[in-house]
Amino acid sequence: MANVDTAQTKDGRSTHPGPKILVDGGDPAETMRVKEALGYVDGQTTNPSLIAKNPEVKKRVESGRSLSEAEERAAYRKIVQEISPMVGSAGVSIEVFADFDTTADQMLKQGQEMFTWIPNAYIKYPCTTEGLKAAQRSVAQGMRVNMTLCFSQEQAAAVYAATKGSKFPVYVSPFVGRLDDIGWNGMDLLANIKRMFASGDGHVHILGASIRSLPHLMRCFQIGVDLVTVPAKVILEWVEAGKQMPDENFHYQFNGKPMEYREIDLNQPWQNFNIKHELTDKGIRKFVEDYRSTLRKAS
Ligand code: E4P
Repeated sequence: MANVDTAQTKDGRSTHPGPKILVDGGDPAETMRVKEALGYVDGQTTNPSLIAKNPEVKKRVESGRSLSEAEERAAYRKIVQEISPMVGSAGVSIEVFADFDTTADQMLKQGQEMFTWIPNAYIKYPCTTEGLKAAQRSVAQGMRVNMTLCFSQEQAAAVYAATKGSKFPVYVSPFVGRLDDIGWNGMDLLANIKRMFASGDGHVHILGASIRSLPHLMRCFQIGVDLVTVPAKVILEWVEAGKQMPDENFHYQFNGKPMEYREIDLNQPWQNFNIKHELTDKGIRKFVEDYRSTLRKAS
């Protein structure tokens, strides 16, 4: 195992080797703790479940003072505004509210507003038809986007095709841990997308997500993803272990079904790809449930 350098330039660009490291959370105090321990934080990802777990939001809901939609939005904004100056060039990902009825127009409208909250926002849209339409229009307007709930190569290919020409790198977030949960080797998806993108123009960056353990993190380093979003607990564990990087003796072991690589032509309209995935739908349901759990019931 080799050690990783932790330097970061004044303007926030990371100069350490390996993927950019993002905190996967919704609590500014936690991000600060990681920054102090690690020496830098390249970015942050948030989602409705993580915002519902924010200590202030949780305390408020538990004391019987659930939020109105406007208050929830204000709380989310406050959280990302506190985190924004702490992070480097990978920015802060903010997720739009999307259920199965939310249209691309509605997602885009939320994304446009969220994009004004902080100077380093990435807007998170789901890998669904409406999410891809919203992303396509967002990048055409010069917005930064992070496509979330990605569980297949086809979804990643659709992200690539829908966001061609983006002024900024586009992130795609394959969710490793949730694939593991249903018996696949989720890490294979990261490796497969990386291989598929090798023939592309490089505008989509792979952000390893749903990372749950140190071996997950090591394997992300080994595959060479562009970025990885990691819960504070795992980052602190990595720091504690001396910020090791995998060497040639590292072998990732997980007893899941292998995910086979598929030859996919990236140069097709994004509508040609089969982007349906049960875990994307399940993820949307869970985000909606967690978001609603913070809200006052309509009387
Ligand atoms: C990433 O953007 C997501 O917030 C996150 O990685 C999901 O992780 P989980 O599957 O552990 O909830």
